[in-house]
Amino acid sequence: MSNAALATEHPTKKTMSKLDELKAAEAKLLLGTYDRNPVLFVRGEGVHLIDENGDRYLDLLSGIGVNALGYAQPAIESAIADQSRKLIHVSNLFFHEGQAAVALRLTEATGMDRVFFCNSGTEANEAALKLARAYAKLKRSEGRHLGTKFLALEHSFHGRTVGAVAATWKDKYREPFAPVMPGVEFVNFNDVADLKAKFSDEVCAILIEPIQGEGGVRPVSQEFFQAARELTRSTGALLIADEIQCGFGRTGKWCAYQHYGIQPDLVTLAKPLAGGIPLGVMLCSEEASRAIHAGMHGTTFGGGPLACAVALAVISTIERERLLEAIAEVGSYFQQQLEALARKHAAAVEVRGMGLMLALELDSPDLAKQVVAEMMKRHILINRTDETVLRFLPPYILQKEHVDEAIAALDAILSEQPAVAAAAPSTGGQKVGQ
Ligand SMILES: Cc1ncc(COP(=O)(O)O)c(C=O)c1O
Repeated sequence: MSNAALATEHPTKKTMSKLDELKAAEAKLLLGTYDRNPVLFVRGEGVHLIDENGDRYLDLLSGIGVNALGYAQPAIESAIADQSRKLIHVSNLFFHEGQAAVALRLTEATGMDRVFFCNSGTEANEAALKLARAYAKLKRSEGRHLGTKFLALEHSFHGRTVGAVAATWKDKYREPFAPVMPGVEFVNFNDVADLKAKFSDEVCAILIEPIQGEGGVRPVSQEFFQAARELTRSTGALLIADEIQCGFGRTGKWCAYQHYGIQPDLVTLAKPLAGGIPLGVMLCSEEASRAIHAGMHGTTFGGGPLACAVALAVISTIERERLLEAIAEVGSYFQQQLEALARKHAAAVEVRGMGLMLALELDSPDLAKQVVAEMMKRHILINRTDETVLRFLPPYILQKEHVDEAIAALDAILSEQPAVAAAAPSTGGQKVGQ
């Protein structure tokens, strides 16, 4: 049907914006899983996204921690173009040049021994859960009792598949799909006594996000992480670090556990690994890898030539441009500025995080929602997690001038919100945290 015919048949169609058309089409055609912001992005440059009208937005969220090198990054563009001309997919039935090369860089960066490639965070965690169960079974066959139970943490988020969601704390993610995978018990966050009380040789693994992401940017304490390491060592159970949000450079080190001096047995990474092309990995120790043999686990797409070529380009760029150092420097500047803001505004409860994974907790969910919307109006993208927490996950290439722009906007918005702030009940807490 021609445009003219469409316009005659549906008089409103002519006046609908592209965004309105998309909204209407998606409302009719897509499964209703998302509540999208009303903006249509068409391209990006550096730390900015650009919408259909050509308006630029400072992106402090980077596609929920994915676009680590920002947008239109030349090394990523060339890797995609070059590899797409050679080979995009070949399956895991055959060799290609990418996996061993990426695995070498990742094992060097993380101190782990072996890599399994997949496509997403939740799949990486699924692989970790399956390996932990298989390893416990192997240990039982060798005469050492290890059960099938997992310990996960209050506020945790590990993904949406039936295993990973079972280890995810919030009821709303699990309850509609019950029964999810059995055998997960939750431990109070940073509560060593609770961890010790719930740990036994029935536990095959403890799952920890060294800095919880969706749960509100909460770093685990040194004492808690250490206790988890010692308890798992005492029985032969595995310590799993979910670094899908906090890992791969985001905190200024390749992995957040490296700030603690603790080496886990299994590590999962995904989001920023291939600069926006889907790629996840589960890394494990040599000892844990004994539990897996050919045919036990796998994936069609995981670790394809395109994703691996881009991951290599991302790793090389992070190294060449010394981005880990830049993250530590700009991140600590950002954190200081947030702390100064928190001292100035009564509605600010706490600043948390490390590197470029930061949060400002406010004292009411409504205020946090309003601040995110106001930032959007000022063309700065952040999001709200765990109801009251403003989360910042910018690209690794963020500069101090971008921090200043964001802080000035937050300052203005919080200064304009006395009514909401005054009406909201205070949850107390410390102003400055780590
Ligand atoms: C810590 C953590 N683990 C797992 C996941 C799940 O990753 P994906 O959405 O790629 O499946 C996420 C996603 O936000 C995450 O933050």
